[in-house]
Amino acid sequence: MLPFCLIAFGMNIQQQVSLKPYNTFGIDVKAKEFVVVNTIEELCILCAAFNLSDRKILVLGGGSNLLLTGDFEGMVIKVNLKGIEVVKENDEHVWLKSMAGEVWHDLVIHSINNGWGGLENLSLIPGCVGAAPMQNIGAYGVEIKDTFDSLEAVELSTGNTTVFTKPDCKFGYRESIFKQEAKGKYIIASVTFKLNKKPELNTQYGAIRDTLQKNGITEVTIKSVSDAVIQIRQSKLPDPKVLGNAGSFFKNPEISVELFNQLKVEYPDLVGYPTGINLVKVAAGWLIEQCGWKGKVVGNTGSHKDQALVLVNYGNANGNEIWTLAKAIQQSVFEKFGVHIQPEVNVI
Ligand code: EPU
Repeated sequence: MLPFCLIAFGMNIQQQVSLKPYNTFGIDVKAKEFVVVNTIEELCILCAAFNLSDRKILVLGGGSNLLLTGDFEGMVIKVNLKGIEVVKENDEHVWLKSMAGEVWHDLVIHSINNGWGGLENLSLIPGCVGAAPMQNIGAYGVEIKDTFDSLEAVELSTGNTTVFTKPDCKFGYRESIFKQEAKGKYIIASVTFKLNKKPELNTQYGAIRDTLQKNGITEVTIKSVSDAVIQIRQSKLPDPKVLGNAGSFFKNPEISVELFNQLKVEYPDLVGYPTGINLVKVAAGWLIEQCGWKGKVVGNTGSHKDQALVLVNYGNANGNEIWTLAKAIQQSVFEKFGVHIQPEVNVI
């Protein structure tokens, strides 16, 4: 029996729903319960009516950073909150608020079309806006923390909304408070970005500079940077609509300078960038490639031929097959280099 308030708000909790269309790996498992939430009011009511903090739940945006290893014996909440609006502006900046269910790339294109800079390097990242702060998405020298202003989240235990500022979110490399102490306590409902009316372009990343040059671009704009990023991504990252994947499966590990220097003696081509005192971030794609996994097909799955860090579903892989491959890759990287690589993808 559904609580009256859910019926009154037109929310329909369905049973035994296939999640195949809702995850970019294309894994065919079922959710015991499945509900689509279209407004923030519905979300608050759902939380208050069910006290969701006591239940097994899975919040879905675009399902682009997720590996499902079996049926989900709880409630899957598909966040479908829509709307993009300017909430404040001055001569230099615009504060753009996007609801969580907007497609990330649509938001990027919307800001580029209006001449607002800051998101262009993050073009074509799959997924929805609400998931972006969870792991502080980043690419080509930019992370969302660079333009992030604040977000609004609904507390699962009460249905009340709370605002998180940038310091509240504790952003790090593919990290935020929502993967740590606030994990499983909130659902992100909207995110506000502070964008530049006089864009400062970020073209430090070698591949962007090379692509702009190849495209014959002499006057660089946010549009030409976005076009370059789209071109780079399309050249090495498989389109999830064509080949199931969740982008980088692992994070690039941070190792000590001592270990980096030791490895560099044996492997002079090792790719790494200093990230802090005594730490070097190493390219996991390079480590995986050196272990012979790049382009290797294992049953229905494998490591992609153009980017070893991306694991793919060649058709009917189940989540466990992909997870087994991921663990084998982890193990061989550890055996060869003594480095632990950790999944970036949320494994459920
Ligand atoms: N590399 C290899 N072999 C490979 C892949 C990469 O040797 O198979 C080497 C490259 O030659 C390069 C270095 O590794 O020297 C870095 O490669 P790349 O520029 O492709 O970036 P990445 O570190 O592999 C990260 C992000 C991507 C993001 C790109 C571009 C992580 C885990 N991944 O990948 O993000 O698009 O940088 O900024 O940080 C994602 O998170 O899903 C994602 C795709």
